Amino acid sequence: METEKEKQRYFSRREFLWISGQAGLGAVMLSLGESVLAPGRAGAIDNRGGGLREFHLEAREIMWELAPGKRIKAMAYNGQVPGPEIRVREGDKVRVVLKNSLSEPTTIHWHGVDVPNPMDGVPGITQKPVQPGEIFIYEFNARPAGTRWYHTHFQEHKQLDLGLYAPLIIEPTQPDPFSFDREYSLLLDDWAVGSGRPVPSTHEGTAGVRGGMGHMMGDMMGGDHTHAYDTMTINGKAHPATQPLKVRKGERVRLRFINASAEHTHVVQLAGHKLHVIYTDGNPLVQPVEVDAVPLAPSERCDAFFYAKNAGVWSLTCRQPGHSGAGEEVHVVYEGREGDRPVGLQTESREPTLWHNALGRGRDVLPRSMGGERSFDLILSGGMMGSDIWTINGKRYPDTDPLRLRKGDRVRVRLTNQSPEAHPMHLHGQSFKVLAINGSRLSTPIVKDTVDVEPHIGSVVVEFTAHNPGDWFFHCHKPMHMEGGMITLAKIV
Ligand code: C2O
Ligand code: CU
Repeated sequence: METEKEKQRYFSRREFLWISGQAGLGAVMLSLGESVLAPGRAGAIDNRGGGLREFHLEAREIMWELAPGKRIKAMAYNGQVPGPEIRVREGDKVRVVLKNSLSEPTTIHWHGVDVPNPMDGVPGITQKPVQPGEIFIYEFNARPAGTRWYHTHFQEHKQLDLGLYAPLIIEPTQPDPFSFDREYSLLLDDWAVGSGRPVPSTHEGTAGVRGGMGHMMGDMMGGDHTHAYDTMTINGKAHPATQPLKVRKGERVRLRFINASAEHTHVVQLAGHKLHVIYTDGNPLVQPVEVDAVPLAPSERCDAFFYAKNAGVWSLTCRQPGHSGAGEEVHVVYEGREGDRPVGLQTESREPTLWHNALGRGRDVLPRSMGGERSFDLILSGGMMGSDIWTINGKRYPDTDPLRLRKGDRVRVRLTNQSPEAHPMHLHGQSFKVLAINGSRLSTPIVKDTVDVEPHIGSVVVEFTAHNPGDWFFHCHKPMHMEGGMITLAKIV
């Protein structure tokens, strides 16, 4: 166990820390916010990984103000939306003490982290739900490095939607392949407040290499039959309540985008600057890819940097119809230019270039396979005539056929989407390579843990090494689809 002094040294340069006195737990709580890093920071942190890091989270109901006058009954970790950012170093032993002060059960899933199966947070599969008043202790090694996140895995259509999510940043032990001067984590979320104009739902996908993605990603037809999403937030706040991102001219600024939305795809763009994509779901590319805007399906992450070389105040916003008006906008403010009038996206004379998965060349960071080769075909269907039934190979979970695997197997899964809506498919416990999208092979596959499969016979082929034994959820990350049955299990023995 680290001493308090070591903890202080570890955090003091860039994070606001206080030691909570409550119940004598000595809890370390971190606030979400900016981190200012000196160049070459990796060497400056006296922690080579392997330390024990303990965090205390309390899930409870709160009144949360999304914007002035827009208050909502939310669910939060430690009274804030998003919950506190947990920042650890690769290889650290992480212990999270979860106290459930909700009036219903809950669990936490560590999305994108290769945790041991009993720590995966799937109620009924890897653990019993944590009942009101109970405490559950999660323990795992922080691995692999990257932009991960944590969120409830209990009745996500309600609990995730109401704010039980937060960033989990695992810093690499090796120097970061892409250096940066400053970073921000930006969690994007959709809310159904019940006031304001509903935002069109997203049925289209993001994964595509089909015809350059176009501009009409929003689908104006057929609204959502359960929620009318009318508010969009960045770090729990809707514009004008969003917290401005301060930068200094000359800096290279890293943005970690995390889409915590239940339903909506976002297409983020920063006025006056290009975005350089460097990580997909937390996993590094060989080299940055310069684009104008980045689409993110639910649960996808993307790290991109921009060069702060255009002083002023600029809007970082979403291109999806209705989203910026619903609050999805934050200002990037250069030091010394605080009084400038904010500049929004210009109406371009050319189509913006959008990130898509085939543009990236991934670094092969996955474990080598040692065993057999297995392949599976999963047909995603459902949602016909607005139904809430979603299937894999014609079956709804728990009747879906599991992928039965042995540790070390190299597993290929072809996902084909016969339904009218995109499905961001997420595998627990291990990440995969994206080998092909809509029939086109990726030259150097990128590594992800969620991939969006486009509607109307879109397809994706993924490959992974079944290195982590246990029963792992493989499911659509849209809670309504998941609860409608679009889940299967990868059973690795
Ligand atoms: Cu983000 Cu089943 O998880
Ligand atoms: Cu889906």
